[in-house]
Amino acid sequence: MKVSKLCFLIAIPAEAKPLIEHFGLIHHPNLFGALPPIAYKGVYKNIELMVVVNGKDQQLGVDLVGTQPATLAAHLAIEHFNPDLIINAGTAGAFARNGSQIGNVYLSHKYIVFHDRRIPIPGWDAYGVGRYPTFNTSVLAARLGFKQGVVTSGNSLDMPEVDERTINEIGGEIKDMEAAAMAWVASLYEKPFFCIKSITDLMDSEKTTQEEFLENLHMASISLKDACFKVVEHLSNSDI
Ligand code: ADE
Repeated sequence: MKVSKLCFLIAIPAEAKPLIEHFGLIHHPNLFGALPPIAYKGVYKNIELMVVVNGKDQQLGVDLVGTQPATLAAHLAIEHFNPDLIINAGTAGAFARNGSQIGNVYLSHKYIVFHDRRIPIPGWDAYGVGRYPTFNTSVLAARLGFKQGVVTSGNSLDMPEVDERTINEIGGEIKDMEAAAMAWVASLYEKPFFCIKSITDLMDSEKTTQEEFLENLHMASISLKDACFKVVEHLSNSDI
């Protein structure tokens, strides 16, 4: 597949800023009217680039993390830009017991799931988990030297035991708050989709997740930008 229009969906500005600056992308205010998502556009070599971030909460002024804002951003980005490929770039948690380290970069693998939608009724149980497709990243991961992992999404930063049990059952390795919602929207539009995730925190470490996340957000966002640049450079030279 030759990619000439590439859309990055990135939940929060702290994650997106290094990438936006690196590619010199231009902010397009009001592209989505009064809705929260914010768009940036530019060109790198032969590829049109768009970055969409989720935007801010109107009442509290905080960045809109989580699955509902992710759904809206993905929908608006696809309707507006009609990309050939969508990449959800962001930070995530992982597990030291799987050999992950802070700053590692992962590409999504096998499928993308929800870990906090518990509906123990036949049919709805599987719907709760989701298992949305990811573009097969194996060649890209091997060529560019990234790890791969099953990405699992929920609406909380912490991981209560009940979520951990589900994550273990479905083989989740990378925990975030947006990917499965975005993957669902991409699947509705039949758009190829995968994730690039840079690790801010290890959920089985001594520190609290919020502490590790805030401590490592900047560093992980720089690793994320470097990884995204490698992928865009690769796409500008080759099919995927
Ligand atoms: N984003 C970064 N770290 C995360 C975690 N541990 N859980 C959910 N989202 C995250």
